[in-house]
This record gives sequence, C-alpha cells and structure tokens, in this order.
Amino acid sequence: MFLSCIRRFYVRCLRFMASDEFTTQVLKCDPSTISFLADEPQIDSDETMNVLKTASHHLIDLRRTVVFPTETVYGLGALALDAFAASKIFSAKGRPPDNPLIVHVSSLNMLQSLLPTGYIIPETYKILIKHFWPGALTLLFPRNPDVVPTIITANQSTVAVRMPSHPVARALISIANAPLAAPSANTSGKPSPTRAEHVHRDLNGKLGLILDGGPCSVGLESTVVDGLHCDGNLKVLRPGGVTVEDIERVLRQDLPENSHVPKVLVYKRDYADEKMEIAPTTPGMKYRHYSPSVPVTLLLTRPSLLDVQPAVSFHSYVQSLKRYIKDSGLKIGVLAATDSKIWDKVTAIEDVAWFRYHLGPLAEPNVIAHNLFDGLLSSEREGVDILLIEEIEENREGLAVMNRVRKAASKTIRVDLESV
Ligand code: TXA
Ligand code: MG
Repeated sequence: MFLSCIRRFYVRCLRFMASDEFTTQVLKCDPSTISFLADEPQIDSDETMNVLKTASHHLIDLRRTVVFPTETVYGLGALALDAFAASKIFSAKGRPPDNPLIVHVSSLNMLQSLLPTGYIIPETYKILIKHFWPGALTLLFPRNPDVVPTIITANQSTVAVRMPSHPVARALISIANAPLAAPSANTSGKPSPTRAEHVHRDLNGKLGLILDGGPCSVGLESTVVDGLHCDGNLKVLRPGGVTVEDIERVLRQDLPENSHVPKVLVYKRDYADEKMEIAPTTPGMKYRHYSPSVPVTLLLTRPSLLDVQPAVSFHSYVQSLKRYIKDSGLKIGVLAATDSKIWDKVTAIEDVAWFRYHLGPLAEPNVIAHNLFDGLLSSEREGVDILLIEEIEENREGLAVMNRVRKAASKTIRVDLESV
C-alpha cells in the first residue's frame, strides 16, 4: 500500500516535470513599445521589459513552454537546443513525435550557430533572406547534429529555420539569447490561433504563460521552402505568408543576368512525391490539419474546365442538409469573401439560423488570409452544425488560403450560385 502510494506520487512528479500542467497566465505585451537597432531590441516600456524577462525566465530557468505572438500565427515556444524543454511542446499540443518543428532565430548570427561548421548559405537563400527575413518564410538547412537535437527535426537531416518579424517574438528570442522551437499554439489538428484568446480557449491549463501581443497581421503560417533537394530549384512544401509570386519576383530581380533562375515548384500544383506523403516531412501531409470540431464543406463556385462534378443550386444543397439534421434547429456557418454572390443566396433562405463571416474582398486575398483561422474558430465557438467555406482564386495569398481550406474540409461540393 505504502509502496504503491510512493509509486503514484513519483509518477505524478514525473508527469508534472514533463508537461506544463498549471494555471495559464496571460500577460499583455505591447509590440509598439519594441523597436530594433540592427539585431538589438530597444524597449521603451518597463512593463514590456518585465513581461519579456518573465517569459525568458520561464523558457531558460524553468525550461517551460511560452506562447508568443508572431506575425503569422501564435507560436508555442520552448528552447530549441534543449531536448527536455522541447519535449514539452509535444505534450502540450498532443503533437506526434515524427512531425518536425521550426526553429526561430532573432539574428543571422543565431542562424549560423545552428548550421554545420563552414556551411555556406546558397545564393538563392541569401536573396530570400535579404527580402523576406525577418518575416513569414521558413527555409530548410542542413542540420548540425552536434547542435540541434533529433527531437526538433524528427531525425531528419534538415532543420527548418525562420526569423519572425513580430517585435515580441524577435525580442523574446533575443533577450533569451536562444533559438526557440515553436509550432502553431493549437492542439494538433486544430486551426492555428491568430489571437491570444484562441490559444487560451484551446490550451488553458496545459501551459504556463501566454504573451498577448494582439492579433497576428498575416494570419496564416509561414511559407516553407526547401532549396536543398531540388536540382537548383526551390520546392514550396507549404504555401504561406510569403507568396510564390513574390519569391519568383525577387529571384528574377536579384540573380545575375544569364544565370539559372530557379523554378519555384509548389507541392501538388507542380509536383507530387509519394515518398514524402507518407513521411510527415511536408507540413500537413500525413496528419489532419486545421479542422475545427464541426464538419467543414468546401463549396466550389468558380468555373472549372477540369472538374466534371455537376453543380447543384445553393438552395437545393441547403435543403439537402436539412434532411440530415433531425430537430429543426439547423445552424449553418458560411465563410466567404465579402463581395461573394453567396450572401444574397444565404439571405433568401430564412428557415435556417446562419452564422455569416465575411472574410474580406476577393481582390485582397491577404485580408482573406488574415481572417481565415479566426473565421474557422469563431464558427466553432458559435456552435454551428456545419460550416460552408467558399473557394477563392488560388493566386497570391489565395494559394495558402485554399491549401488550408482543403485540409480543413472533409467534403467538397460544386455549387451553382447563378441558378435559383
Ligand atoms: O508561421 C509559422 O511557421 C508558425 C509560427 C509559430 O512560426 N509555425 C508553424 O509551425 O506553423 P508548425 O509546427 O505548426 O508547422 C511547421 C511545419 C510542420 O508541419 C513540419 O512538417 C514542417 O513545418 N517542418 C518542420 N521542420 C521540417 C523539416 N526539417 N523538413 C520539412 N518540413 C519541416
Ligand atoms: Mg501547425
């Protein structure tokens, strides 16, 4: 009896040490009080400084996780070069151990400290870094096995690195003086959080500290680019905040005349890779992603020569949904562009409770990207029975938006918005 009590106490202590199970504290951290002089953060407010020092203490001395805002989404950070600290990320998120993490740095010196000795950064990467760092671009580098623990890279030969531009993220990394591993701060499989309250609702009690720096400006995760394995070309493993069009533009602009301009190949659009699909090395391929707890249906409404699926009218599609919901309290969420034709159709159907979320103008896919995850999470909070998301054109940020929507959706249906 006594022995089993001791064993139980011991197991509880081990569990406590291996995870961050306590009351979650939310501290405001005002990004407008932080600026940078070269790589050094200049902090105008004592309050901001104290919050950043507290966060740094959690990370370094307590080896705990800290949630911090980045310009893309909120990140769940821990020391990247400390396997014990980094393991807490996996327990807090319920993340499968074979899904590698992005390492966040605050300076190019910090990047260099992660790379194999003598490694020379390729010319194309130098151009991308010059234009997009700090910012929403993640690059794959060879891993230095003496520095980066295997838990970060899921045993792969590469490490994914980015330098966030959000002042709170970059200042925290700089003050802690340590690279931070940080996946999106959500339970694995759920939409990524773009506001501190999204994180709190999802992970309260599973982590110690959330820094609230307001809403994330980009709203979708970084673009993940592999320039190491593609015969001089670049592979976009995950479209994101930096658009393919912008990557192509800066390469054309900065590479010397007559030199080979790499192709920028987008997974699934420009190439397929069976081996990669069964390995989790490409974001979101092996595991379910971005799914709120309500069923999501993608509505195809744009003309397509490839798709042979016959279109149904919006009205008859909604009637068909009613047949499945037994009690009459059907609540449908709709996420669509502000200037979509869908809204007139929605208004015309009065016997359904609608939750309408206007994502932004069709001509501004960056605004739609900014709002997408908030739209998914707000629909979930509103308790809709089903969520319908209308497609947008897959250019600029629209490519990343549609990548996330396809992963969130369990069903796709072609709908005709012209017919009655
Ligand atoms: O914007 C972002 O990238 C956010 C913020 C917090 O920085 N982070 C983020 O992390 O989205 P996460 O873990 O949710 O998604 C990173 C993806 C993972 O799905 C993983 O598959 C991929 O990047 N990744 C990480 N290391 C990789 C590697 N060495 N090779 C290929 N893919 C890698
Ligand atoms: Mg994620």
